[in-house]
Amino acid sequence: MKDKINIAIVGLGFGAEFIPIYQKHPNVNLKVICDASKEKLDEVGGLFKVDNRTDNYDEVLKDPDIDVIHLVTPIGEHAPMTIQALKAGKHVGATVPMATTVDECRQIVELVEETGLKYMMMETAVYTREFLYIKELFDKGELGDIQYIMASHPQDMDGWPDYWPGLPPMWYATHCMAPALGIMRSKAESVSCIGSGKIRDDLIAIHNSPFAIESAHVKFLNSNVYAHVHRNLFDTARQYKESLDVYGSKKSVEWPLIEGKPLVVHTAKMPEPEIPQETVCPDYAKLLPDEIAQYTTKSVYEGEQGHLSFTQGAGHGGSHPHLAHELVTAVLEDREPYPNAVESANITCVGILAHDSAMKGGETIQLPKWSLK
Ligand SMILES: NC(=O)c1ccc[n+]([C@@H]2O[C@H](COP(=O)([O-])OP(=O)(O)OC[C@H]3O[C@@H](n4cnc5c(N)ncnc54)[C@H](O)[C@@H]3O)[C@@H](O)[C@H]2O)c1
Repeated sequence: MKDKINIAIVGLGFGAEFIPIYQKHPNVNLKVICDASKEKLDEVGGLFKVDNRTDNYDEVLKDPDIDVIHLVTPIGEHAPMTIQALKAGKHVGATVPMATTVDECRQIVELVEETGLKYMMMETAVYTREFLYIKELFDKGELGDIQYIMASHPQDMDGWPDYWPGLPPMWYATHCMAPALGIMRSKAESVSCIGSGKIRDDLIAIHNSPFAIESAHVKFLNSNVYAHVHRNLFDTARQYKESLDVYGSKKSVEWPLIEGKPLVVHTAKMPEPEIPQETVCPDYAKLLPDEIAQYTTKSVYEGEQGHLSFTQGAGHGGSHPHLAHELVTAVLEDREPYPNAVESANITCVGILAHDSAMKGGETIQLPKWSLK
């Protein structure tokens, strides 16, 4: 087994957050960084002292030494660039969402099956310390039977790059769909979603998507459990939040209303005032190689420079080094990453189909069979 893999990072906005993590990871050689903008390439390459730079994705695809491509490009580019990478024989870690159509997700799943290459959607929300804590409680049996899950991701996207305005909220639902499904490693079987309220007319015109909030009920495969997931991107006053509330027969965990406050763990059959306990969840840096453990709590930047999503999302719960480590070890150990191609497709498609459902007045839509394998 090789003990080092060669990685390329493509897209250096949010993608730059991963450069020092790969530079320090003991099993990675960061082979090249790539961005279509020469200015961005030189700014980021200079900051992190990476000399191997290219503004041409084709060069990355053609480089026989590159094992893994980590894509952090704009939303519409994820699927086409993933398909190109898989066809070029590269393993792929791609930022969320996997794609914006069900058909693109199917193509990626089929290519992964044909080639045997790894695909991982780099979903921060299933590697946050909060998610890892709730998952640990569930795995140890402390929550009992899961009865219901709620997740939400309110965000105000005014002022973000030009591919965001008017985006249907559920096209970018992975930060709430993934943790809702991830606690029990469930698949979504069907979804019904309503749209509520209305955004500005100029925003509606872009994707013909009128709703301020999309609110979905998701049925889990082979289970009696549902999740309730809601999202907003425009014209709704709410602080950023990526929340996960998990209701169990023995214990439940609720997300705080205001970011930065502790989780609340409710324990059944206690005297009423003792049921809720504010709980600061532990950090999970202990799961990582020493060289990158610092990045669960520390930004890769010195000072104020970090990506806006990192500041808004409370550093994405320390997830970045966990994501990088999962991708690297899955490739080195020749095992499936979490989430793999089928799981990523299921997580992404349930959002895409939730928006379709909202546009059809809440009709229940089944997930495609190939996303349930
Ligand atoms: N928590 C999370 O998982 C999280 C957080 C932030 C962003 N994201 C995702 O990351 C992606 C990037 O976000 P961002 O805010 O950095 O976006 P951005 O638009 O600021 O940056 C994207 C970069 O990709 C480059 N690029 C575009 N097309 C390219 C191509 N064909 N080849 C090489 N480079 C190309 C652009 O020049 C730009 O520098 C988005 O799709 C977003 O969904 C995920």
